[in-house]
Amino acid sequence: ATPSIKCHATLPGIYSEASTLADIDWDNLGFGLIPTDYMYMMKCARGEGFSKGELKRYGNIEISPAAGVLNYGQGLFEGLKAYRTRDGNIVLFRPNENALRMRAGAERMCMPAPTVDQFLETVKETVLANERWIPPAGKGSLYVRPLLMGSGSVLGIAPAPEYTFLIYVSPVGNYFKEGLSPINLVIENDFHRASPGGTGGVKTIGNYAAVLKAHTAAKAKGYSDVLYLDCVHKKYLEEVSSCNVFVVKGNTICTPAIKGTILPGITRKSIIDIARGLGFEVLEQLVSVDELLNADEVFCTGTAVVVSPVGSITYMDERTAFGDGKVGRVSQQLYTALTSLQMGLSEDQKGWIVKL
Ligand code: COI
Repeated sequence: ATPSIKCHATLPGIYSEASTLADIDWDNLGFGLIPTDYMYMMKCARGEGFSKGELKRYGNIEISPAAGVLNYGQGLFEGLKAYRTRDGNIVLFRPNENALRMRAGAERMCMPAPTVDQFLETVKETVLANERWIPPAGKGSLYVRPLLMGSGSVLGIAPAPEYTFLIYVSPVGNYFKEGLSPINLVIENDFHRASPGGTGGVKTIGNYAAVLKAHTAAKAKGYSDVLYLDCVHKKYLEEVSSCNVFVVKGNTICTPAIKGTILPGITRKSIIDIARGLGFEVLEQLVSVDELLNADEVFCTGTAVVVSPVGSITYMDERTAFGDGKVGRVSQQLYTALTSLQMGLSEDQKGWIVKL
């Protein structure tokens, strides 16, 4: 049955259906698209800034067959989450970081980007318009997916003449079917996610297309995801298709340094901060496969995956297990610290929470 939570009064008038919670199975959310009521769209020409957009009914969009994004992959996305807290607030976690990351990615991909303020305002507006889709406290979150794309027509290689910024949302639960139970990763030897000088360090759509082959093959073999190695030495960890990776040894936590081929994850950055605050030594540096396989614990971080403990890594057909199938002590501690903050259960001393 639909929990009887009253939604906040949102934008008056047009969003009348926002007054009660959507009638879906809130106890069984996974990470699949559940279409909601509204999306936000804003367009601008090359060389100009975004100025005015609007909320629209969620639905298909019309786009030129010659659009830059369709032909040359000129596109970026972001991912962030809105939570309903126990005391009835709706909060976002560090949305300004997503705005800044989109701006950095846009510079790399020759696109104009919304300002930080435009990004924050339009995300808030979209979340509030879809308020009835925000899961009850503790049952998941509303995943917010901002897109930036070259929507104008091009035939030869060139930045598109027009750009579209679009935000859609979907209620989500756990990314991995395992939930907080440990996931099983396989190290990929033949395919790489990114190369020096490429676009691995920005959230461009092509980075995710590039991992589909290895990811699909790994899933077919029963693995949760793929861990990629650097393409030069084939020896140092980069990241997983959907998230960053951390290796724990004693009181030290290591994660691959950001050097252009690794996505600067906002959860990654938050966990580094939280872990240091809890007294761990955190090193951002090269992390070899050997160090990984000798670790006490391994875990992944990302907006979608939150903190996901790793139960095993398979490398060259050999499986190394961690923690007896149980969630590691450090992973659990960091998961609890992060999610308590995100869900409004612990005090936000860092100013990471934005209340709507
Ligand atoms: C996120 O964590 O928000 C991402 O963008 C990863 C994606 C594979 C779901």
